[in-house]
Amino acid sequence: MRSPHPLQRALQVPLPLQPHGSACQREPRAAAMVTQCLLLLACVLVLAAPGLSVPAQTLNTFEKTFSNTSLKKNSWPKDCSEISAGSPSGVYVIQPSGLHPIVVYCEMNVTGGGWTVIQRNRRNTDITWAESWSTYKYGFGNVRSDYWLGTEYIHQIAKQKVYQVRFVIHDASDNVRFAEYNLFSLDNESQGYRLRLGSYAGTAGDAMDSDNPSNTHNNMKFSTQDRDQDTSRKNCASHSGGGWWFSSCYSVRLNFKGGMTWGSLCKGDCKSSLILIKPALYR
Ligand SMILES: *[C@@H]1O[C@H](CO)[C@@H](O)[C@H](O)[C@H]1NC(C)=O
Ligand SMILES: *[C@@H]1O[C@H](CO)[C@@H](O)[C@H](O)[C@H]1NC(C)=O
Ligand SMILES: *[C@@H]1O[C@H](CO)[C@@H](O)[C@H](O)[C@H]1NC(C)=O
Repeated sequence: MRSPHPLQRALQVPLPLQPHGSACQREPRAAAMVTQCLLLLACVLVLAAPGLSVPAQTLNTFEKTFSNTSLKKNSWPKDCSEISAGSPSGVYVIQPSGLHPIVVYCEMNVTGGGWTVIQRNRRNTDITWAESWSTYKYGFGNVRSDYWLGTEYIHQIAKQKVYQVRFVIHDASDNVRFAEYNLFSLDNESQGYRLRLGSYAGTAGDAMDSDNPSNTHNNMKFSTQDRDQDTSRKNCASHSGGGWWFSSCYSVRLNFKGGMTWGSLCKGDCKSSLILIKPALYR
């Protein structure tokens, strides 16, 4: 019996036992081969997508993964903090526990590196941000420019360990400000992806956790125009154009086309935003 293809081994695709090749055995084998081909195709597409500059590290990981005969079950990093120190910022494949592999941008050059980028936006963005619940759930945009990673994926990543979050804001005069919360998690979808933040440190101001219940974001559920879970009588996501943890309605609006808002730092004229997460104890 020929030994399994390394890719098949890597991706844990079961190879049916095959000695006689009767019709009822050929079926699952064909199915496994189709699965194998699709996975191979997916990997090739991920690595060869036009315009994506895949850092050498990704390719190294890829080669190591598929040439190693004693593979562990999970071959991809669980988040960007598991990518080896010194790797460049760029597009990587990660696989959070219990989830399929996903493509993310890893920021390896900000305060120690290892940050998984969950949101990036610029004032002159191409994307509208006025998307539905399910589009927010699984993410949209371009991982190399402006994007939302996906509310479900953010939840899945952040439930693996204790996470922290860092918001990086370019204000109207192009000063770089940041806000860090030492805890970050999202409740699951049936709990409305409610946001849980720890305590603030930074230079941008504690705008996510305002004392005013009508414009705070900490402990709020996520709302989109087609799923209004805010604390307002109106639909904040419809009025404001994008999905967010609205109360009634906001002091921070980053998922928006045409100038973002961060508290009193920049009201509708922030130039860019970046939201980064990594395990709280990671160094
Ligand atoms: C293959 O995997 C094993 C166990 O995970 C590891 O110890 C070994 O260094 C790996 N070999 C290569 C060539 O990456
Ligand atoms: C990494 O950050 C340092 C200091 O902030 C900066 O000088 C350098 O250009 C950055 N490197 C890359 C590749 O962005
Ligand atoms: C969502 O979270 C709640 C509270 O932690 C839990 O009771 C519920 O089982 C979870 N639902 C799913 C679908 O995981």
